[in-house]
Amino acid sequence: MNSKIAELKIQFEAEVAKASTTADLEALRVAYLGKKGSITELMKEMKDLTPEEKKSFGQEVNRLKSFAADSLAQRTEELKKQEIEKEINSIPDFDVSMPPSMNEGSYHPVTLVQRQCERIFRSMGFAVEDYSEIVTDYECFEALNIPKHHPARDMQDTYYLENGQLLKSHTSAAQNAIYKKYKDALINDGVPIKAIFPGRCFRNEATDACHENTFFQMEGVMVDKDISISNLIYFMKTMLSEVFQKDLKVRLRPGFFPFVEPGFELDISCLICGGEGCPSCKHSGWLELCPCGMIHPEVLKAGGIDPEEYTGFAFGLGLTRLVMMKYGIKDIRDLNSGSLKTLTQFIDE
Ligand code: PHE
Repeated sequence: MNSKIAELKIQFEAEVAKASTTADLEALRVAYLGKKGSITELMKEMKDLTPEEKKSFGQEVNRLKSFAADSLAQRTEELKKQEIEKEINSIPDFDVSMPPSMNEGSYHPVTLVQRQCERIFRSMGFAVEDYSEIVTDYECFEALNIPKHHPARDMQDTYYLENGQLLKSHTSAAQNAIYKKYKDALINDGVPIKAIFPGRCFRNEATDACHENTFFQMEGVMVDKDISISNLIYFMKTMLSEVFQKDLKVRLRPGFFPFVEPGFELDISCLICGGEGCPSCKHSGWLELCPCGMIHPEVLKAGGIDPEEYTGFAFGLGLTRLVMMKYGIKDIRDLNSGSLKTLTQFIDE
């Protein structure tokens, strides 16, 4: 090999090894392979050579040219990788997509009140049960003494799935499953059924200040020998006084629900207007808070319990309504608004 070419190759290799950035490599490319680069310049020496020499010299210069181009490309690739890794490692250890000052979350007011009610009922010996939001027609209606085409279904128009299942329109939809789950302990061991089951419910509603298509209820049932309306009143009064930390004004009116007999509406005086009348209480001064009653014999039968031997009460507390009362929220739609300004102001007690 021509000694000049050999020397240039050694010099080039040394300089590539020293280059520590892709910018250094680009400078080397210009210095060696650019228009006036030292390898390009070698070609100019061809004119003084014999035709024989020209051939081998030309070949060697070309070989050096492609060697230089390949080494530069390979080294550039390596350095690029290192540079990216360095950049990644220098990113500070926090989530840059987090909005500022959102490092603390808060519970939704419905969750706060639900947990409070759960604590109170647990302390009175009730089990807390969970149930699915998608249920069958049997669970939501048939097992609750509401046969097909019964007018009571009109008040509970909900959302139906193509397979015939539906989004539960009330937490009562879990009653049948609860009776079946606990009936053996009741019948064989004399353990009373005492359970509450909070849940999200859905109805095909036109929305206004006190109606939403999605809301929360908390159902409770107690079944044993000799359970009466006085047991029901005792548990409801105890629970509501705990939640509001005072003795509330309540009233019991007759109410019709096919799955209780007799059935009642338990109302509390509206805490927003103090009983004078406002949009939240439909200007009546009272808020329907808790429909309730003695469990209908047919419903007990459907749950595998003999109504001749056992009786029980059931209530369907309007959890969403209770939240509105407790915190003085005037419009039910605020609760599903997703507005953090509204929803982050509530704190657990
Ligand atoms: N499930 C009824 C409703 O949502 C309420 C209710 C529950 C009534 C339990 C009586 C007993 O309208």
